[in-house]
Amino acid sequence: MKVVAFNGSARKNGNTAILIRYALKELEKEGIDTELVQLAGKRIRGCTACMKCFETRDQRCIIKNDIVNRCIRKMIDADGIILGSPVYFLDVSPEMKALIDRCGFVSMANGGLYRHKVGSAVVAVRRTGASRTADTMLHFLLAGDMIIPGFPGIGIGRNIGDVEDDAEGIERAKNLGKNMAWLLRTLETAGQAAEPILAKEA
Ligand SMILES: Cc1cc2nc3c(=O)[nH]c(=O)nc-3n(C[C@H](O)[C@H](O)[C@H](O)COP(=O)(O)O)c2cc1C
Repeated sequence: MKVVAFNGSARKNGNTAILIRYALKELEKEGIDTELVQLAGKRIRGCTACMKCFETRDQRCIIKNDIVNRCIRKMIDADGIILGSPVYFLDVSPEMKALIDRCGFVSMANGGLYRHKVGSAVVAVRRTGASRTADTMLHFLLAGDMIIPGFPGIGIGRNIGDVEDDAEGIERAKNLGKNMAWLLRTLETAGQAAEPILAKEA
């Protein structure tokens, strides 16, 4: 079993990454493999609305010179997906929005690539906009027919590391990991984990 997390922050090891790592640690305690994908510093652009993914239906975006197709593959291969973002002007970072739009559209064009995977969201906030930011990411999960086990992880902080002082935020991030592990193991026991989708040849 594997959970892949995407950090949409421009700071690789900032508050969002700290919260995500607390969640991943809980998953690892339950024997679940994890991977953290940092969007910071990577080439990633928004959807161009070219609609080519609805023509090719090859589980890929036509834009091939950035990180998105690798992210789509990682999402397809994982049993669980965590999206993490800092609040930027009361919503997700532009990198996270680009990831959502492109991975979401390619999934729709291919009949739903992430259906029945377990998903959740993590937010780092200084003061305002956490719920809305979480909602943006949760809507991606819901639109993809993924299953969300409980509350997202929201932690408060401005400078790198501030979130460590938010004990409740850390607890929520840990709880998110525990809830994901519980649901993944429960689905596995019931024989209901998301069916693996085989890669299509290029
Ligand atoms: C461009 C930009 C916009 C921001 N907008 C908000 C905001 O609307 N509300 C808020 O509470 N914090 C805002 N912040 C603060 C960050 O959400 C906060 O510092 C967060 O902890 C950063 O997480 P990171 O360390 O993972 O990058 C903003 C920060 C930046 C750089």
